[in-house]
Amino acid sequence: MRKLTGAFLATLLATTGAIADPVDDTLIVNEELELVVRTAAPDHLSDTLDEVMSGWLFRGTETRAMQADDFDNPGMIFVEQAQDAWNTAEGTEGKSCSSCHNDMESMAGVKGTYPKWNEAAGEVRTLQMQMNDCRENRMGAEAWKYDKGDAINMEAALAAVARGMPVNVAIDGPAQSMWEKGKELYYTRTGQLELSCANCHEDNYGNMIRADHLSQGQINGFPVYRLKNTKLNGSHSRFKGCVRDTRAETYNPGSEEFVALELYVASRGNGLSIEGPSVRN
Ligand code: HEC
Ligand code: HEC
Repeated sequence: MRKLTGAFLATLLATTGAIADPVDDTLIVNEELELVVRTAAPDHLSDTLDEVMSGWLFRGTETRAMQADDFDNPGMIFVEQAQDAWNTAEGTEGKSCSSCHNDMESMAGVKGTYPKWNEAAGEVRTLQMQMNDCRENRMGAEAWKYDKGDAINMEAALAAVARGMPVNVAIDGPAQSMWEKGKELYYTRTGQLELSCANCHEDNYGNMIRADHLSQGQINGFPVYRLKNTKLNGSHSRFKGCVRDTRAETYNPGSEEFVALELYVASRGNGLSIEGPSVRN
């Protein structure tokens, strides 16, 4: 039995009661690419979890089916938009992403390694921070707004070319202090409800909370197309929503805190396949 934490959470869980295990299903995209949706937990989690699981396993039959076929996956429209943007020159240098990076497929190995330490800048960067660095400093173009339109579309496109590759973020070396900071945020109780990420996604995954089936809160499927708001959603925006649900003040997408949290949460899914753009309710 997983432990319940906090009086309010216990009430929330009790009103629905049921424990619904993740489905026993395999995710094969376009009938050809089998993704790893559950695997042994990475070493740094071995005291707490045996297995890590994609959020896909906690969604209903129809939602799962939408993600298994690119024609049915509404997120793919945004990926196509980003492929156009990839080839479009912008900014004072008259360059497009493809001027320097060639085909987007050449970036297949990139997504799974982010957030990643950038030596020259001396910081941990998310994929969106890196894209904006290219835009501002190499193209002479304006930075894209975090987790919005073009930025989230491009992140989804870079995820799509990496689909099936493992999440594999580095947590040691110069990235370690950001990782520690993200870990601390993950286990800190916030808000009037005094709940941490772990209270829901580590202690209670598999349980029903209100009408929702709690997953491990992994981000290997991000960006995520949500049926609820019919657009792509970034991991930072999801974190913001979850923190708000604990009735706490929250950080903004792109903030240092959420960069740290993204690194930490990504590392909890090391070994799962990149699935983005995935489909969720
Ligand atoms: C003028 C050349 C140039 C253009 C144009 C350019 N980039 Fe880059 N990009 C680079 C260089 C050089 C690096 C490596 C920089 C570094 O490590 O600091 C890089 C790194 C990256 C990386 C990280 C790769 C990795 O292996 O970690 C991503 C992602 C990226 N660029 C995306 C984009 C996108 C998206 C665009 C268009 C919006 C773009 N770039 C436009 C030169 C460019
Ligand atoms: C009160 C319980 C609760 C807390 C606390 C909470 N979440 Fe969530 N979270 C949910 C629910 C419910 C969902 C939607 C169902 C699901 O995917 O688990 C969700 C979804 C997510 C997802 C999307 C997973 C996917 O595959 O689409 C991520 C990522 C996530 N949460 C991360 C976090 C992080 C990081 C924190 C701490 C800052 C946090 N959550 C705190 C309840 C919570």
